[in-house]
Amino acid sequence: MKQLTIAIDGPSGVGKSTLSKILSLDLGYLNLDTGAMYRSVALAATRRGIDATDHDALRQLCDEIVIEFDHKEGAERVLLNDEDVSVAIRTPEISLLTASVAACPDVRHAMVARQRELGAGGGVVLEGRDVGTVIFPDADVKFFLKASAEVRGRRRFLELQVKGVTVDLARTIAEVQARDTADTTRTMSPLVQAEDAVVIDTTDLDIPQVLKRMFAVVADCQRANESSQSS
Ligand code: DC
Repeated sequence: MKQLTIAIDGPSGVGKSTLSKILSLDLGYLNLDTGAMYRSVALAATRRGIDATDHDALRQLCDEIVIEFDHKEGAERVLLNDEDVSVAIRTPEISLLTASVAACPDVRHAMVARQRELGAGGGVVLEGRDVGTVIFPDADVKFFLKASAEVRGRRRFLELQVKGVTVDLARTIAEVQARDTADTTRTMSPLVQAEDAVVIDTTDLDIPQVLKRMFAVVADCQRANESSQSS
């Protein structure tokens, strides 16, 4: 069976990571979290005292760091120069800085090249903002997920509450809206829906309902590939 390249794009808090993990696990595919790569660059920049506006230094940094993914005891890990940074890249400070670092064209060139390398050959689910438009415009299946900022903010709020983190709901929604603005208004590779993407509005859907739709689309693609191979 053909090893598909599956793109999942959409704004923050729409459920991409959860869905991408389940889909890739079920299909036996590689899961590639492209946002984790931009986060790793932001972390490396912070540690070296590089400002997000210093594009020359960021370009050089991208040449010097190695970002990899692996699994340990069932958990996916992000490695920055062999160090497990899976937790360190998820702090609010790094989230904020990542939006600026990801707007730097040199950083995007370097990350897109690495993402293409990691995803070459198919059998991969990539999640991010520009997978179906820039990284793999010829992906076999493209999903674009969306949900209202209120619903995404509320989901994030509940997630943090479960973790025992006290946050303000209105502020969490405002943060989601601010990240949407940064993602959709940057000059290079802004978040846009690919024309041929399957759009799923998850506002009123839970994870199993969204997965059911995604698996149906993937199965259709696999069937279409099989019949074109056998004819
Ligand atoms: O998906 P995430 O929240 O981990 O993404 C972190 C940041 O990186 C966010 O500001 C959007 C940006 N990003 C991007 O510009 N392009 C991607 N392909 C993935 C993420």
